[in-house]
Amino acid sequence: MKVLHTVAEFRQARAAFDVLGFVPTMGYLHQGHLALVEQARRECPAVAVSIFVNPTQFGPNEDYARYPRDTDRDLTLLEAAGVDLVFIPSVEEMYPPGFGTYVIQPAADEVLEGAARPGHFRGVATVVCKLFNIVQPTKSYFGQKDAQQTVVVRQMVRDLNLPVEIVIVSTVREPDGLALSSRNVYLNAEQRAAAPVLYRALRTAAERYAAGERDAETLRAVMRSVLTGEPLARPDYISVAHPLTLRELDRIGADGALLSLAVRFDQVRLIDNWLLEGEGT
Ligand code: PAJ
Repeated sequence: MKVLHTVAEFRQARAAFDVLGFVPTMGYLHQGHLALVEQARRECPAVAVSIFVNPTQFGPNEDYARYPRDTDRDLTLLEAAGVDLVFIPSVEEMYPPGFGTYVIQPAADEVLEGAARPGHFRGVATVVCKLFNIVQPTKSYFGQKDAQQTVVVRQMVRDLNLPVEIVIVSTVREPDGLALSSRNVYLNAEQRAAAPVLYRALRTAAERYAAGERDAETLRAVMRSVLTGEPLARPDYISVAHPLTLRELDRIGADGALLSLAVRFDQVRLIDNWLLEGEGT
């Protein structure tokens, strides 16, 4: 496994491979990240992973400075997973003085995570575009856990004709349903015990959908009432949206819907989602 820190070094190492699978991450790896790596390993003859805590996707009052980092442990996990190339650039390497070009999707900033975190998807789209240009992957792997991120990346690839195939991997969960996240380490014991309420709310709404409910407001109310049962949980948004436009729905039609939640436990903000398959899919 080769570990590269500069764009020039990475490009040189990349030239040894033809077809390359790529998993962009911010490190502090867990089984969710590793599921992406494993799928890339199965589908591609060579695999690259990036570890870069991208400052441009964090708001001024967010957790950039205290975002958890453990590069040595990450490298041990990636070596064991059979990864070929790891790209770990510095902030100066990615954003040298004078940097001034961004990828923006105004529509993404109007809903869900985009509305809650101004500038977040500008940072994500910009860094993913840069990473695609540096890594030149054949396929790149993203988790369903960050549903709006998958929509933003797919749209960017389509709009900018980027020559990469995007693969989405299902959310990996703890046995009690909590979606794995690097931010779960921020939860204290009490909050950790309460956190599976996101999964329970989503699952309860999904069961109502399976039983025939198609009214979006009813499903929002179902999720709200499950969340209300957990006093430590403070909902930020509760959404039943179109799976591609992410606009809130009145009724769920042939395209199905994306159920999604952002919930605060004190300072810790967790997100989760559940895709309801439509009759047309
Ligand atoms: P990060 O949060 O490190 O996540 C890297 C990838 O792992 C993302 O595609 C994310 O959706 C996926 N992932 C995280 N938790 C998961 C889980 N429980 N199950 C399945 N997949 C999971 O997302 C980012 O980094 C950044 O925004 C990035 C794309 C690297 C751009 O900076």
